Amino acid sequence: MNKMINLSKVTKHMIKSTIKGYGHYVPENVVTNDDLSAVMNTNDEWITERTGIRERHHRKNRNDAEETTAYLGFRAAENALKNANLTAKDIDYIVFATLSPDYYFPGCGVLLQEMLGCDTIGALDVRNQCSGFVYAMSVANAFIKSNMYKNILVVGAEVHSFGLDFSDEGRGVSVIFGDGAGAVILSASEDGDSGDILAVNMHSEGKYAEELCVQFPGTKFGWSDRMRLEPEQVTNREIYPIMNGNFVFKHAVTRFPETIQEVLSAAGKTIEDLDMFIPHQANLRIAQFVQQKMGLPDEKVFNNIQKYGNTTAASIPIALSEALQQEKIKRGDLVCLSAFGSGFTWGSVLFQY
Ligand code: COA
Repeated sequence: MNKMINLSKVTKHMIKSTIKGYGHYVPENVVTNDDLSAVMNTNDEWITERTGIRERHHRKNRNDAEETTAYLGFRAAENALKNANLTAKDIDYIVFATLSPDYYFPGCGVLLQEMLGCDTIGALDVRNQCSGFVYAMSVANAFIKSNMYKNILVVGAEVHSFGLDFSDEGRGVSVIFGDGAGAVILSASEDGDSGDILAVNMHSEGKYAEELCVQFPGTKFGWSDRMRLEPEQVTNREIYPIMNGNFVFKHAVTRFPETIQEVLSAAGKTIEDLDMFIPHQANLRIAQFVQQKMGLPDEKVFNNIQKYGNTTAASIPIALSEALQQEKIKRGDLVCLSAFGSGFTWGSVLFQY
């Protein structure tokens, strides 16, 4: 079934991309810093001081096949649909951002289409790590503004707890990441009073790919020319994320202010016009540094990394969903979502709610 809508009666310039619904979902299982210090040489003080993280959610155990990335996305999508007062049949297109898919291929978008029982709509997978949700929103916005689709489900979801090194060797990375999912329904609207995405920007700098990456399974470093993964890579712990933490930190605190300024300028706005800034939840110290540099008061910045850790593509939609639930964002407010991460990639979405 072709879900492309006939918007011939609608004048293109009148179409707005409005957030019609939002939702999030995290696995029940909470893992505190003390829980981690029982399995590796770390402690609550180090983690809290360096990152602000106090706890994160991990799927229940390593044999829990149910709580996959697509499943977390499905639960977040269900909540977003309910919030929007829509059903899966109303969705015209899916954009799914994750770096931790259920399969090497296919991506999670098609799995979500099946789980929700949508028609045979298109499902696009976005591989932009921490910037994944920002990239996903920009794609959905472009489809809506170009009359392609009416209701787009945009999801960010991750299961990190399955791919981290919980030995002392991996402690600099594994304490940071958590599992979770968030979703938004972006809808076309002709209503003059409805919200709209005002501007987006996206950037990349691939020369830094190996400053934050997972190399295996992959096709670049294979020991034989026909294998994506060999047993040696598992025993050498080369299947886990590599992160040059200081390097990532320095680039993040430079790129965040640039992308925020750029998206505000593109919409003819200034930092004083902003009602809420939701940064990707990478590290509370990064968010605080950026807040200070931009001169934003506490009530205009939303952070929840303390409870969830860094959930990569899921971090912005989880934070957005919580900020909306807690009524920290009201209709008409100007909101900026900004992300920086592996790639490097970074970017922002500026919208009027
Ligand atoms: N518990 C206790 N000690 C730890 C530890 C842990 N979990 N992880 C690392 N350490 C130790 C290191 O071994 C090192 O010890 P040494 O001085 O004896 O060698 C010391 O703590 C300092 O390590 P370092 O890596 O320099 O710390 P840092 O101040 O740079 O903080 C990060 C590390 C990862 C918290 C920080 O670099 C960061 O947040 N970077 C950005 C990461 C990020 O945002 N990633 C996602 C991108 S979207």
